[in-house]
Order: sequence, then C-alpha cells, then structure tokens
Amino acid sequence: MTEQKATNVTWHDGEITHKDRNKLLRQQGVTLWFTGLSGSGKSTIAVALEQALFERNKLSYRLDGDNVRLGINKNLGFSADDRTENIRRIGEIAKLFVDSGVIVLSSFISPYRADRDRVRDLHMHASFAFIEIFVDCSLKEAEARDPKGLYKKARAGEIKNFTGIDDPYEAPTQAEIHLPTDKMTLDEEVDVIIAYLEQHGFINRHQ
Ligand code: ADX
Repeated sequence: MTEQKATNVTWHDGEITHKDRNKLLRQQGVTLWFTGLSGSGKSTIAVALEQALFERNKLSYRLDGDNVRLGINKNLGFSADDRTENIRRIGEIAKLFVDSGVIVLSSFISPYRADRDRVRDLHMHASFAFIEIFVDCSLKEAEARDPKGLYKKARAGEIKNFTGIDDPYEAPTQAEIHLPTDKMTLDEEVDVIIAYLEQHGFINRHQ
C-alpha cells in the first residue's frame, strides 16, 4: 500500500456532485477495466467501443498502457513494484474521470489480481461502478499476432520480464465480462459490452 506522505491535507467538496455531472452529461460515469496479455486486443476493443459509445452520444475516454507510459507514468518500468504503481495511478485517474461523469475505458495488462482488486475497492468506496473485462487470449494466439514484435524480442532475451514469457499474468476469477477473444470477432466483443451496459442501466437502449 502506498502511504500518505503529505500531512495536513483534507478533501474539499464542491457544490456540484457526481450525480449532477452525470445528469448534465446524460450518462453514468463508470470504469470499464480491460485486462489481458499484451496483444490480446484490449486497446483495439477500447477504440471500437469508444466509437460505438460516441455514436450513442456517450462520452468515454481511453486510458491506454502505452499512451500513459509515455506521459504521466514515464518514470515507471515493468518491475512488479512499477507495475503496481502504474495501476495504482491509473486507478486514481480512472476514479477522477468517473467522478467527472465520463465512461473510462482503461486498457492495461494489469497482471496482478491484487492491483486490480485495489482499483475495484477504490471505486467501491466512492460508490462508483467498476466493471472488469477479461480480454482472454491465449499466449499462443497473442504470440502469433505479436503486433509490436515484442514477443519475438522477449523470446530472444532482448526484453526481460515480459508478461506471459518470463513474468506472470494472473487471470481474473470474477470478471464481470469475459471475452474469449480467440473465438469472437471485434464486433461481437463490442456488442457484448454494449449489451452489458444496457442491461445494467449504464446506458439507454439504442434509440
Ligand atoms: S502493466 O503490466 O503495467 O499493466 P501496461 O499495460 O502499462 O503494463 O503496458 C504494457 C505494454 O508495454 C505492452 O503492451 C507492451 O507494448 C509494452 N511492454 C514493454 N515491455 C513490456 C514488458 N516487459 N511486459 C509487458 N509489456 C511490455
């Protein structure tokens, strides 16, 4: 757990609440947390989902592993501690976005169950919804796709601590949505998520 370093700091509420912002945006802020191996399709699904939501006049925002690691998390690598800190920061950022009323599409390998559960707890304590989506792709398939050529490098020993090769991935046991991507098309994956959001009242059925 990251300790609170600063002392004499207190939370300051405004006059406009999370509910007010949801009302203004005509939607409900929520975090959709995609987890899965590198190359499993997390970012691809998030991009397609962002588009599908936009067409329904829903505002979403993608937080993506590679993008975030080029910015706010540029000082973090891939050790277990750095991955934990990566996910902790993203969890806090996601929570802020949800508070603002936005639908967060967060795509990080997030290989450790405890890190993901901590982000879930963070949301639960604020009474915000957190939907974990397991982008389930076998290592064999991810390695065959190898969109960035990173598995090849990892196998050649040019990248150390690569998830799935010489670093662990702890699959979710209770994800709200399970996408066996080896057996699904991108459109089907997006449809499953949209249907979930509709069924649980996060978005209206398509008018
Ligand atoms: S996480 O484990 O901390 O959640 P994150 O999703 O931010 O990882 O970043 C993963 C991306 O970084 C991969 O898709 C890949 O492009 C790149 N990457 C570079 N080195 C590694 C590594 N050792 N393990 C996994 N991904 C890596």
